[in-house]
Amino acid sequence: KVADLKGLKQGQLRLSAITTAKYFVPRLLGPFCQLYPGIDISLQVTNHEGILERMGNNQDDLYIMTRVPENIDVSYQPFLENPLVVLAPKNHPLAKEKNIPIQRLSEEAFIMREPGSGTRKAVQSLLKEHDVKVKVKLELGSNEAIKQAIAGGLGISVLSRHTLIPYKGDIAILDVEYFPIQGHWYVVHPSGKQLSIVAKTYCEYLLDAVKQIRDESVTIPA
Ligand code: PGA
Repeated sequence: KVADLKGLKQGQLRLSAITTAKYFVPRLLGPFCQLYPGIDISLQVTNHEGILERMGNNQDDLYIMTRVPENIDVSYQPFLENPLVVLAPKNHPLAKEKNIPIQRLSEEAFIMREPGSGTRKAVQSLLKEHDVKVKVKLELGSNEAIKQAIAGGLGISVLSRHTLIPYKGDIAILDVEYFPIQGHWYVVHPSGKQLSIVAKTYCEYLLDAVKQIRDESVTIPA
C-alpha cells in the first residue's frame, strides 16, 4: 500500500507529555523524524493537571502520562515502567543504609513538587498511608530544579528514576521501605476520537523505541 511507505507519511502530530517523560520523549522524536520527514510535530510538556486540561480541550492527538484519568473515557496502553525513588545527595549519611524505615523520612528536609503534579499526589498518598509527616522545606515546579536542589544539599525528594538519566553521580537513590513507588507511563487518547494514521504510526514507533530506554535505565546504580 502506497500510504504505508515510510517517506510518504505526512501530516501533523500533536503530543503532550507529562514532565517526567521529557527525559526520553524528545530524544525519541529524533529518529522518528528521520524515519518520517513528512510529519510535523508539536510537543507540550506539562504536569498531570496540565495534561488533563489539554485532554479536556481536545488539544492533542496523544497524551503521554502516568495516571490514567478515571472520569474521561480513554483508550490507553502502558509502555514503560516509571518507578518513583527517594533521592538524596551522594554524600548523605542515609546513602549507605539499607532498608531505611519510611518514618525516617520525617526527620529530613523534604523538597516537594507543586500542587497539580502527579508525582506529588503519589508521594503524598504513600506518606499518608503510613502516617508519615515530612517537613516540606521547599516546593518546586520542576524535576530538574529539584535535582539541582538535592545536589546542592537543600534536602531529599521523591522523583521518577528516569530523571537521573544520564546518570551524573551526584545524587544517590535511598533504599527506603515501600519504595520505589511502582508506576507506568501510558500512551492515552480519548476513546471517542479516531486516531490518525500519523498518530498510530507514532504509537507503534514509541512501543518499540522504549526498549532502548529500558536498557539505559539499568545503568543507574540502585
Ligand atoms: P508530574 O508527572 O509530577 O509532572 O505531574 C507525574 C507523573 O509522571 O504522573
